[in-house]
Amino acid sequence: MSSLLLTRIGELVTWDDEQPVRTDAALVIADGVVAWVGDAADAPAADDVLDVAGGTVVPGFVDSHSHLVFAGDRAAEFEARMAGRPYAAGGIRTTVAATRAATDEELDTTVRRLVAEMRRQGTTTVEIKSGYGLTVADEARSLAIAGRHTSETTYLGAHVVPDGTTPEEYVALVTGPMLDACAPHARWIDVFCEEGAFGADAARAVLTAGRDAGLGMRVHASQLTYGPGVLLACELGAAAVDHCTYLTDADVDALAACGTVAGLLPGVEFSTRHPYPDARRLLDAGVTVALASDCNPGSSYTSSIPFCIAVAVRDMGLTPYEALRAATLGGAASLRRDDVGHLRLGARGDVTVLDAPSAVHLAYRPGVPLVSRTIASSD
Ligand code: NIG
Ligand code: FE
Repeated sequence: MSSLLLTRIGELVTWDDEQPVRTDAALVIADGVVAWVGDAADAPAADDVLDVAGGTVVPGFVDSHSHLVFAGDRAAEFEARMAGRPYAAGGIRTTVAATRAATDEELDTTVRRLVAEMRRQGTTTVEIKSGYGLTVADEARSLAIAGRHTSETTYLGAHVVPDGTTPEEYVALVTGPMLDACAPHARWIDVFCEEGAFGADAARAVLTAGRDAGLGMRVHASQLTYGPGVLLACELGAAAVDHCTYLTDADVDALAACGTVAGLLPGVEFSTRHPYPDARRLLDAGVTVALASDCNPGSSYTSSIPFCIAVAVRDMGLTPYEALRAATLGGAASLRRDDVGHLRLGARGDVTVLDAPSAVHLAYRPGVPLVSRTIASSD
């Protein structure tokens, strides 16, 4: 049994019901789980001690949406967008070509680099999607590589329809032989339900095929315009519907009623110049909100949850603690996990230490590397 005491914590965020945020605290992680929380003055002895010296301790961030298995980048496309060219889903095909041409080792190196980048910025749980292979072999190897770095792997064969095939043929492939090859490597299935990608009927076919193969359901929806994906996610009881940039009142009402988590991805709006999603409207309606990076080379090449928190506070109507909650407990809800995203007794010992006197500084000091230590007991 090995134990670590974090002591002299200026502010500790546990999301405990009675005392979600406490001061002058200490916390013990023993055998990878939170074993004791209390006042620093009462801290028990432990094998090792980490003196936080008045800094802040928060649950490790849970990044519930990323696309890390890819090759190349699209910096030129970003540059053109900043000069006024609109984002188009078709850019995905550029990354598909580069990804197909890459070796397994090259793809693995990129995933390792980005997961390490996330870790340095406080992320301890990350979901990773396929979606830049779009052949049976390339989707299966993307998921196998993702699975070396996380247990939260998502099969996104239905990202766009690749060149050289019809939508009907491609949906048959995604729900047939590709699903057979990918399901053993995946926990989740996802579909990009959007104009230029997949419509409601095709998305329903993809999601139900995945569900029948034992996968949990997630959806990309309403990123570029109003669309049917949010209502579809609710109809099917998906765990999460992500983007939610363009929502009707009916979408918001349905989300509040069905319990599907709305994943907001402000890195996308930052780098596509679409309006930020209205997180305040969702929270006020009673919707569970997650905040995630959507790290990918096209629409959001950030791996930084602190950046997402800062934007959510500045431009999406959340308080600093609501934004932090969305990036921890919200991410956990999106992944249907109750062992991460909080630091109540028994939680996994996934902890992010900030060189700052409170979690407010995550938004108050944007762009500053405040994470001094990330302790990850999970993948
Ligand atoms: O989540 N929206 C669809 N997929 C990604 C974008 C991928 C890309 O542009 O390469 C997203 O934003
Ligand atoms: Fe995405």
